[in-house]
Amino acid sequence: MAADIISGKEIGDEIRAEIAQRVSDLKKNHGLVPGLATVLVGEDQASHMYVRMKNKAAGELGLHSQQITLPGDTSEDELLGVVAGLNGNPDIHGILVQSPLPDGIDEAKVLLAIDPAKDIDGFHPLNVGKLNTGSDDVLVPCTPAGIIELLMRSGNDPAGKHAVVVGRSNIVGRPMASLLVRKGPGGNATVTVAHSRTPELGVITRLADILIVAIGRPETITGDMIKPGAVVIDVGSNRVDDPETEKGYRYVGDVVYEEAAEVASAITPVPGGVGPMTITMLLSNTVAAAVALAGIDG
Ligand code: GUN
Repeated sequence: MAADIISGKEIGDEIRAEIAQRVSDLKKNHGLVPGLATVLVGEDQASHMYVRMKNKAAGELGLHSQQITLPGDTSEDELLGVVAGLNGNPDIHGILVQSPLPDGIDEAKVLLAIDPAKDIDGFHPLNVGKLNTGSDDVLVPCTPAGIIELLMRSGNDPAGKHAVVVGRSNIVGRPMASLLVRKGPGGNATVTVAHSRTPELGVITRLADILIVAIGRPETITGDMIKPGAVVIDVGSNRVDDPETEKGYRYVGDVVYEEAAEVASAITPVPGGVGPMTITMLLSNTVAAAVALAGIDG
């Protein structure tokens, strides 16, 4: 059996077109331009690339975007001052402070300082709490929100299914489980969370109708750990050496793709699966935050 491929590129493009239309309507009907601010501290090259991609995507969809780049020796107080300024800026509806932050800055403190209504990462404890108490009025972390879109738009509604989430990070695993278990569209699954300390991982993963893997270890899930016909979502993106490629490396997921594709009914590729959804959902959250802050219905 060859699995269907769930393309994050295609589904992401579809959602981006919807966002662009929404942004255009908001501008025309309400004079509202959703605004994104990204804050980058230090010289981490990967972070610079991610933030550039986020601002570029925002511009392409008609959002206002502003990048604030601060030197690596910025103090915690200076950064908190920047966040306070953005909280009070009426042109900015979404604030993203890129992590990792340099040593000496308490990331949890910075997160707490972001206005929860502008917390488009969905990492503020108020949003985490709202998600876990089933509130609809919440900004949801982008990667798990994107995975729900991938499932729903590929005809794999999790309702009534057994979903196994492998990984318990605050960015993916935990909010993923919360979204899958909540009442309402995209939820209503029975959820098991497994992780790096789960003994006999394969015994658990083989019970999954929907298997979501975010363990951050290359090719951890092999074909024999997957139930025939399961839907497999691979959140991993691991750079591995490969002298046979031009660059000397390639990206693999947390799942052995070739083996999984023989067993699963549908699977996300790496790259081109979950990855493209994350920035898309960040922009979707920025628009949602702008609409909520402006008090516009619907
Ligand atoms: N660094 C890596 N991923 C993310 C993310 O989703 N949000 C933020 N703020 N920083 C990150």
